[in-house]
Amino acid sequence: MIDRKVTLTDSLTGKSVELPVLDATYGDAVMDIGKLNKEFGLFTYDPGFVSTASCESAITYLDGEKGELMYRGYPIEQLATKCSFLEVCYLLWNGELPNKNEYIEFRNIIMHHTLMHETLRMFLDGFRYDAHPMAMMTGIVGSMASFYQDKLDINDPEHRMITAHRLISKMPTIAAACYKHSIGQPIMYPRNDLSYAGNFLHMMFATPCKEYIIDPVAEEAIDVLLILHADHEQNASTSTVRLAGSSGTNPFAAIAAGIACLWGPAHGGANEAVLKMLNQIGTVDNIDKFIAKAKDKDDPFRLMGFGHRVYKNFDPRAKLIKGIADKVLAKYGDDPLMHIAIRLEEIALKDQYFIERKLYPNVDFYSGIIYKALKIPVTMFTPMFVIARTIGWITHWNEMISDPNLKIGRPRQRYIGPTERDIKK
Ligand code: ACO
Repeated sequence: MIDRKVTLTDSLTGKSVELPVLDATYGDAVMDIGKLNKEFGLFTYDPGFVSTASCESAITYLDGEKGELMYRGYPIEQLATKCSFLEVCYLLWNGELPNKNEYIEFRNIIMHHTLMHETLRMFLDGFRYDAHPMAMMTGIVGSMASFYQDKLDINDPEHRMITAHRLISKMPTIAAACYKHSIGQPIMYPRNDLSYAGNFLHMMFATPCKEYIIDPVAEEAIDVLLILHADHEQNASTSTVRLAGSSGTNPFAAIAAGIACLWGPAHGGANEAVLKMLNQIGTVDNIDKFIAKAKDKDDPFRLMGFGHRVYKNFDPRAKLIKGIADKVLAKYGDDPLMHIAIRLEEIALKDQYFIERKLYPNVDFYSGIIYKALKIPVTMFTPMFVIARTIGWITHWNEMISDPNLKIGRPRQRYIGPTERDIKK
């Protein structure tokens, strides 16, 4: 490790402080500012955390300039083409890919805990028929702590692992049940003989009156999409899970907080927003008008599915997703929205506004078109993201809880409110 330090000098007091710089395996090193306030009487101010590393982590690395993403050191391109989603879950949680026996055992555990508690299922009846599935999922997952009280000791690694298994197993069941509730159909119980993705398709589209034949193209597409969305280091929802979990709350409550955060259109809600935007654009002829709106500072409209806080190059996941979209649309037929999307991408990538700001299509630009082709309704796009990201959230939570130096997350502020005053009465 190179001995590197940064010296800060206050121009007002002339006082200096030396801050150690900590190396990273990849990416920018970090300046350890832990002693800044005590020695210097200053806080750092960084709205949106654009220059702040909130933790150390050994799970996922992404290079926004190069457009690279790795889980536990493995490039996303290799994971998406050589592994199944459950292998990736095992990798994220354990740090290594499973051997054959480890995989069989892990698959059995996950596929044998897929049922929802029957009383938990009854929660659905309390929701309005037209409730958004994300609203239902936030509530249902939060309530899981009341059903699995036997394994809530966060200091016990075995309890943490069982909770992770429960969440990975049950999240597709919960998501599909929310969908069935919203269309007034009976929920379909899971089938443990199917693959993880195949079982989800079965719970979404089968009915007690009719078997659903799983199409291998759809099954593969869903599995790869789950891999691509499984983790993304300290994104907003993962940071939310960490912050919520740092108080020592139970993991179900922390994951419910992550689901609530993911729902926003600047994060996981973007794939739903992309489809709404493509429908709003309507035809290729209207694209120029919408590009002009996106560039107009007085217009709040943004091109959904474009731009990313970290990627200032093509999102590697977007490239892989485009490949899946081609396969799915070849089977399920052309979609006029795909033509609008392709043309929009072409135009935006040549436009100075987008070039200067390094705004490229992100993971959500094409995922909505794939889901639409597979007949997954728009309101289920973000729940699909929840299913995938559950492993990322719970792995980050576990990494944080396992850290003997864990502190509750408690940011400070720059107070800009009124000075002290008295109530006059
Ligand atoms: N359309 C038009 N202009 C944009 C867009 C966009 N999609 N994204 C950023 N810009 C512009 C901003 O107006 C700003 O311009 P300025 O410098 O002239 O003021 C500049 O690019 C930088 O934008 P910021 O908002 O500062 O970038 P930030 O890193 O905070 O935002 C974000 C990233 C939220 C993803 C943003 O690009 C966005 O809103 N994109 C659309 C929503 C979306 O697709 N979200 C999904 C993200 S991926 C995920 O969560 C899985």
